[in-house]
Amino acid sequence: MIDVAMTRAQAQPADAAVVVDVLRATSTATQALAAGYEQVLCAESVERAAELRGPGRVLAGERDCLKPAGFDQGNSPLEAAELRGSELVLATTNGAPAVVSCASRADRVLLACVLNLEAVVNALLEGKDPAVSIVQIVCSGTDGLIALEDVYLAGRISAVLPGPRTDAAVLAERVAMGFTNAREALGASAHARTLTAAGLAADVAYCSRESKLEIVPDVLSVDLGVASIGQRTGARESHARRRDTVAV
Ligand code: MLT
Repeated sequence: MIDVAMTRAQAQPADAAVVVDVLRATSTATQALAAGYEQVLCAESVERAAELRGPGRVLAGERDCLKPAGFDQGNSPLEAAELRGSELVLATTNGAPAVVSCASRADRVLLACVLNLEAVVNALLEGKDPAVSIVQIVCSGTDGLIALEDVYLAGRISAVLPGPRTDAAVLAERVAMGFTNAREALGASAHARTLTAAGLAADVAYCSRESKLEIVPDVLSVDLGVASIGQRTGARESHARRRDTVAV
């Protein structure tokens, strides 16, 4: 069954979850791994992220779209493209907490954005396993509300996955069909307007670039409000079975 959670509050237990925060957390995490960071540590809060400061760690994130005090950089895929350490610690309002909470609800959790759309779809199709009967695409949303850009991407992913789907998945697919391309969909979103007003239009444009990165961020472990994200490798086990914790 393919399902879509329109906001993270609708996330349910699933065999596999695909977390989407196109603007901008999953885009930033994907870009960081593409730049060469060994891991991205998604923290449930800015305060939790600050506790993780240590050698080789770069603190990135946002509060009200802007870099929190004491952080090294914002929640920006453009900034994440520059390798400045070995681990990127990421704290954001909606996307990072969605990753942390999904990690405790699903055996396998991937991160998707427009930048890695094709890679994520291929990973889901290749990894099709009879044991995986429920795949939920979880839209992070914005402050509890539906975010158009997340539903658009959820619809694009759902549309190419085989199997039965819920009404929410059909709805997301119909939304995606209403736009010619990702740039148009993101451009129509409220959060793109907010980011543009904050001087971050370049991030919106960057996040609209489709299938530019061959990276599938995968939750490796979760502990104490921090999900450790790395790149998917060939043979893998679920993060629920691997209890190697992040260094705290
Ligand atoms: C979030 O997690 O709320 C977002 O990624 C917000 C943003 O930085 O654009």
